[in-house]
Amino acid sequence: MSILAELSNLRVYFYDSSDKRFIRAVENMSFPIENGKVLGLVGESGCGKTVTALSMMGLLVSEPGIINGKFLFEPKEEDAKYIRSLLQKVKVSDPDEEMSNGDRLNLFYGLKKFISIEENPFTIIKNTERWLRYHDTVMEKIRGKNISMIFQNPLTSLNPFLTIESQIRKTLLRYNESIDKHEITDMILELLRSVRLYNPEAVIKMYPSNLSMGMAQRVIIAIALASNPKLLIADEPTTGLDTTNKYRIIDLLNSIIENKGLSMLLISHNIRLVGEIADRIAVMYAGILVELGDKQEILKIKKSPRHPYTEALIQAIPTDYDLKKGKKLKVIAGRAPNNKIGIKGCPFVNRCFYATGEIKKKCTSKMPPLVEVSNGHFIRCYLYFK
Ligand SMILES: Nc1ncnc2c1ncn2[C@@H]1O[C@H](COP(=O)(O)OP(=O)(O)O)[C@@H](O)[C@H]1O
Ligand code: SF4
Ligand SMILES: [Mg+2]
Repeated sequence: MSILAELSNLRVYFYDSSDKRFIRAVENMSFPIENGKVLGLVGESGCGKTVTALSMMGLLVSEPGIINGKFLFEPKEEDAKYIRSLLQKVKVSDPDEEMSNGDRLNLFYGLKKFISIEENPFTIIKNTERWLRYHDTVMEKIRGKNISMIFQNPLTSLNPFLTIESQIRKTLLRYNESIDKHEITDMILELLRSVRLYNPEAVIKMYPSNLSMGMAQRVIIAIALASNPKLLIADEPTTGLDTTNKYRIIDLLNSIIENKGLSMLLISHNIRLVGEIADRIAVMYAGILVELGDKQEILKIKKSPRHPYTEALIQAIPTDYDLKKGKKLKVIAGRAPNNKIGIKGCPFVNRCFYATGEIKKKCTSKMPPLVEVSNGHFIRCYLYFK
C-alpha cells in the first residue's frame, strides 16, 4: 500500500459565542489516502465531513479551527523543499510533534504553537491572526497545485463576470509559470474535452449563467485539474444534479482518476453513490470515525461484519430495484447526539437496534475502540469487541 496522505487524530471544535459553549465538529478522525486510489467519506449531514476536508486544505477560518491532529502529505518534489523550510521556521517546543514521516510533511506542524487549551473549564485560546498568516503561507504552495477541491453547488464557485476561458486561463497561469501563452487556448480546449464538454470552442466564450448545473460542475472539475494536483477532494460534487447527471459526473471522476493516476477523497451522504468508484470507505458519525474498510467488505458481502450505522446508511438509500418494486425506505430514526456535550458511550446508542440487554450497558458506559475485524477493516462497535 503506497500512501500519499494521512490524517491522524484530527479534532475540531467551534466556539458558539451565543451560549458560550464549544461545538464538537470532529473528534479524533484518522484515515490514510493511498496513491491512485479513491477514499469515500460518508455520513449524514452535519457529521463533520466538510470540516474534515476544509481542515486538510487549511481553509478552516472560524474560531477556533483545527485544535489537534496531524496531516501528513507528500507534495510534488519541487514544492517539498520550500514547504519543509517554512515548517522548519516554526520552532515547536512540544516533543510529541513530528514534522515529517519519510517523504511526507505534517502540514499541521507547529499549529499548536498558536493555541493554548485549558481543560477545566474547557477553553481554547487561539491567536487566529498569526495562525492564519502562518497556515496560509504554508498552504499556498499546497492548495491548488498539490491538492484541489471541488465543492457542491458549482455555480457559486465560478465568477459570474468572467468567461469560462478567462477563469481557466487564470488557473493555468497561476500554477504553470513556464506555460507558452500561444498554446494556452489549446490547453483550455483540451481540459474542457477531458471533462467531456462537447463543443468546447463555444463553451469557452460562455459566462457561468449560460451553463447548466452539470456543465458548470464539469468546468469546476476542469479548473481543479488545470494545476495537475496529486489529490482531488470532491465534497458532495453531485448535490443539486439530477440522477442521470449525478452518475455521469461520478463516471467522469472515475475515468479521470484512472487516466491521471490521481488520488481522491470523495465526500457524500450517499454511500451507494460513493460505492460506485471508491476503493475504500470511511464512515463518520457525529464527528467520529465508526468504520473504515475496503468497499467490497462494507457494501457487498452480506455476512461480513458491519457497523450498525453503516448498515442503516445502506438501507436508507434505495437501489433501482427497490424503487421499481415501490419498496419503503428505512429511515434512520432518532437524531445524532447533541454536539455541545461530551459523548460518554457509543455515539450511536440512542438509534441502534443492536443495543439491547447486556450489551447496552457497555454501549452506554464507554466509547467503543476502533477494532481491526479483518485485514484493513476497522469497526468501532462492541458487537465486534469482547
Ligand atoms: N464555521 C462553523 N462554525 C460553527 N460550527 C460549524 C462551522 N462549520 C461547521 N460547523 C458545525 O460542525 C459540524 C460538522 O459540520 P460539517 O462538516 O459541515 O458537516 P457535513 O459536511 O458532514 O454535513 C456541524 O455540527 C456544523 O454545524
Ligand atoms: S457499540 Fe452498541 S450502540 Fe454502538 S453501534 Fe455497537 S451495538 Fe450499537
Ligand atoms: Mg458538507
